[in-house]
Amino acid sequence: MDGDYTRFIELLYKKTGIDLSKYKEKQMKRRLASLMMKRGCSSFVEYFNFIQNQKEYFNELIDRITINVSEFYRNYKRWEVLETKILPKLSTKKGKLNIWSAACSTGEEPYTIAMCLHEHIPLNQINIVATDIDENALATAKNGVYGESALKEVPNAIKMKNFDEKAGYYYVKDHFKKCITFEKHNLLKDPYKNNVDLIVCRNVLIYFTEDAKSYVYENFSRSLENSGVLFVGSTEQIFNPNQYQLHPIETFFYQKQS
Ligand SMILES: C[S@@+](CC[C@H](N)C(=O)[O-])C[C@H]1O[C@@H](n2cnc3c(N)ncnc32)[C@H](O)[C@@H]1O
Repeated sequence: MDGDYTRFIELLYKKTGIDLSKYKEKQMKRRLASLMMKRGCSSFVEYFNFIQNQKEYFNELIDRITINVSEFYRNYKRWEVLETKILPKLSTKKGKLNIWSAACSTGEEPYTIAMCLHEHIPLNQINIVATDIDENALATAKNGVYGESALKEVPNAIKMKNFDEKAGYYYVKDHFKKCITFEKHNLLKDPYKNNVDLIVCRNVLIYFTEDAKSYVYENFSRSLENSGVLFVGSTEQIFNPNQYQLHPIETFFYQKQS
């Protein structure tokens, strides 16, 4: 790693707690270099000094790092598997189901979880905590208002039932908002949750180094109840899951068995 980028990583970590040394370097550096040049800077340190007191440009950097792309029912078939095959394994539990949507971005994922589960269990039996490192994304998530493009994969019947539509915007119904708590959480730094029955963490670990991925899997395994399930993204199969006491039960679903 060159000295300029290393220094930039240190400065950014001090200011935000985001540790870019745990994200794949080549990809991240390329993304940030184009932004740096757009702002007329010729080194990462110069770029950092230029933006650090300019909120708009600083937010632009955070947006570039966090990649908030999301959608309701992203990879629709996987959600069918959650509903038909995974949920029956989880809902035998007495008491509330504890669910963690980790790296939830702008909220489409935790709302999708609530919508899927609501087909089978009352919402007062579900407790969803949805977390992300990006406060702006969390603010959008709490708002629960989306444009048409976020609902591309949502079948019409589900759209009509779970959203109110006004002037081309879709408002998530209040009862779904009430069963989700949104919180800021950095997967590479903050303490992990306990006694979780289902962790959904999709499309973020692809950006992490192998060491950082291992760190997250180890912690997820500790967070899960015995027989709890981890649901990962469609390009994120875990290499050698047994080392984390996780066992594949369906493609992209792993069950903790200690
Ligand atoms: C591509 S989005 C994935 C959203 C959603 N899970 C999905 O699959 O549609 C990646 C999210 O990971 C978040 N993220 C990146 N690094 C993170 C970290 N260290 N801790 C928590 N969230 C992080 C970003 O802010 C972003 O919202």
